[in-house]
Amino acid sequence: MTDQRLLHAQWSSRTAFILAASGSAIGLGNIWKFPYLAGEFGGGAFVVTYLLCVALIGVPIMIAETLLGRRGRQSPINTMLTLAEEAKASPYWRYTGWLGVAAGFLILSYYSVIAGWAMAYIFKINSALFVNIDAEQTGRFFEAFKSSPEFQSIWHTLFMIATVAIVSRGVSGGLERASRYLMPALFAMLVALDVYAMNSGGFGRGFAFLFYPDFDKLTGEGVLAAMGQAFFSLGLGMGSIMVYGSYLPSHVSIARSSLFVASADTVVALMAGLAIFPLVFAHGLEPGMGPGLIFQTLPIAFGQMPAGWLFGMVFFVLVFFAAITSAVALIEPAVAWLSENLGLSRKQASLYAGAACWFIGLGSAFSFNIWSEVKLFGKTVFELVDFLTANLMLPLGGVLVALFAGWVMKREISEAELELGEGRAYPAWRVLIRYVAPLGVLMVFLDAFGVL
Ligand code: PHE
Repeated sequence: MTDQRLLHAQWSSRTAFILAASGSAIGLGNIWKFPYLAGEFGGGAFVVTYLLCVALIGVPIMIAETLLGRRGRQSPINTMLTLAEEAKASPYWRYTGWLGVAAGFLILSYYSVIAGWAMAYIFKINSALFVNIDAEQTGRFFEAFKSSPEFQSIWHTLFMIATVAIVSRGVSGGLERASRYLMPALFAMLVALDVYAMNSGGFGRGFAFLFYPDFDKLTGEGVLAAMGQAFFSLGLGMGSIMVYGSYLPSHVSIARSSLFVASADTVVALMAGLAIFPLVFAHGLEPGMGPGLIFQTLPIAFGQMPAGWLFGMVFFVLVFFAAITSAVALIEPAVAWLSENLGLSRKQASLYAGAACWFIGLGSAFSFNIWSEVKLFGKTVFELVDFLTANLMLPLGGVLVALFAGWVMKREISEAELELGEGRAYPAWRVLIRYVAPLGVLMVFLDAFGVL
């Protein structure tokens, strides 16, 4: 085992880890999902709940997950197994790793479909069709695009091919290089869109919608969605942060890196919301329109800007990159496991994992058209897979990580790994990870399923 730990690749620097972890965190979750969920669940109250979940549950779990990864230095399943042995705990803890591999797989299956939309818009946004387009036209355009099973499966396929191509190149080749310049560029683009939104005539209403909480509008389902979104957006509870942690050099401060990544992730989500809701209100759109929200609002902005086609293209290229750095993180636990345990080469492992994911993803691609009436528990394939993963599997995976780091792992070990000094930081983290995070998730579950 020791040999494996030594041989396991390491990040070239702390920056590389931060960039890759932010690359995994920042993605469609921030730009596509956060705004549409905030719109669907009533705005401010959802946003406040989301922020609380990030701070009290997300950040402590992110620290724990990185910690476990760095201590175990293998794929999540084998890391959990090794750490359980070290703590003389049950080998069943490895199922935490399995849960993560499964969640990542399932998320990527539909993530790829939505990322395919962003890819398609790179090419569509520069057509004359979008010049001075109004809300009704963007709506019609999006509907037509979504209703085509051919388009949906072609773009999904292309995105999956791109993901496999990057993942198969390995940790320091593909992953590091991809995140270095693109994240800052995306940030700059969002600043530009926010400035545009400020002058759109709907800024006051958009701002109020996002930041003034009206808790009467918040349902148990909304609270569950906010918590699920915190896990989803931070990229927690499925082992990808654990994998990145496993590549982290031992002198780097885990807490500081995690705080940085979580803050960057949150800022980007809020900036996306601030770019979108002013447009929604200025153009009389419906905030709760669902997954099509950014695809129906942003083209209006691009259509009205000078050289908007160019900005639009650049924007969707950046969204595509943000998505692909997340996609890589989603599939990495599976790839790491396949290559460690079945002796497959990285290339083979990426190919098999990608192909399986692609196949499952067709279900989501068709759920927007030919299978839109196929429903289980009142949800389409896409809605069901999303609910199951983001709202149930990720929080459950996160709680298991919290319980392991807080209760199973010896205090000396976590204290030594985190190196938080003598002050209050370590005891504070310990309280959050042992009590606040697990009980918080439990309460949200009970509330959402009507027990509370
Ligand atoms: N955090 C990514 C996003 O916001 C999605 C993701 C979820 C990535 C889980 C890794 C793990 O788009």
